[in-house]
Amino acid sequence: MPARRNKTADDITSEVLRRFAETPEPRLRQIMLGLIKHLHAFVKEVELTEAEWFQAIETLTEAGRMCSDKRQEFILFSDTLGVSMVVDLISHRKPDGATESTVFGPFHRLGAPKLPAGGNIAHLDKTGTPTLVSGRVLDLDGKPIKGAVLDVWQAQSSGLYDSQDASLDGLHMRGKFHTDAEGRYLVRTVRPVNYPIPSDGPVGRMLRATGRHPWRPAHIHFVVSADGYEPVTTHIFDRTDEYLGSDAVFAVKDSLICDFVRHDSGDNAFGDEPARLGIDPPFLTAEFDFHLKPGSERGTTVLDAQQRLAALGAAG
Ligand SMILES: [Fe+2]
Repeated sequence: MPARRNKTADDITSEVLRRFAETPEPRLRQIMLGLIKHLHAFVKEVELTEAEWFQAIETLTEAGRMCSDKRQEFILFSDTLGVSMVVDLISHRKPDGATESTVFGPFHRLGAPKLPAGGNIAHLDKTGTPTLVSGRVLDLDGKPIKGAVLDVWQAQSSGLYDSQDASLDGLHMRGKFHTDAEGRYLVRTVRPVNYPIPSDGPVGRMLRATGRHPWRPAHIHFVVSADGYEPVTTHIFDRTDEYLGSDAVFAVKDSLICDFVRHDSGDNAFGDEPARLGIDPPFLTAEFDFHLKPGSERGTTVLDAQQRLAALGAAG
């Protein structure tokens, strides 16, 4: 008599693991075996019913249908489940002193315009408080990095990114800035505001069903890169924001919290810079230095991934 096959749930798990154990590429083998082990354990632990399993498949199908070159529901799932931040931590273990990274998020767009120091990324935003963000890009010894690129993006004062705003056609609140010989950069924008992540899809339903809010604390996104250094994908956060302790995507790190200082007269640490740029009080200033860790290997960056995702979305 041949042995009976697949008698128990554990028998099935063992058989599936045996099948994947033949995977030739070692890293893929490790990932697949880990995935099967944990996925099966999860299904067994919660005793997933057929109806719940179908619901999960419907949810993922709907998430896929919502994706386009302007909307990435899977990144939102990854972010709101905290997975993006865990992957980010594993991928970017920084030595002491390097600027910490945080989630890339779903709102980066390719093709941001190159702007000079002091260039205004918020030129169409008429309601936000003018804000100057400045600082330096430095190496781990504090030496200035000339010609570093800061790819900056931010929500408008309405709380919407350009891609979510039907009244906008092109790019807005985006720019690429270069550091000068002292490693300095200067970005003109408006005060960042807190905003809810898109909640009109399956991610929003999950948040509501689990009693979570969709809000993110006010922040500005940066990817800072320079030849010979590892790029950092990060945000700076407004220290006064009420959602710093409950960011819907778990992205806040203490080292990324920054003071946005209000000026009601022209007298401030920026000297005559605001006047030169035609900015009247009240306005805000924020200062933040980025520290890059050396590394010549480029590898696959989040921007490469973004390019591929955008191509998928545009094709859909
Ligand atoms: Fe954001």
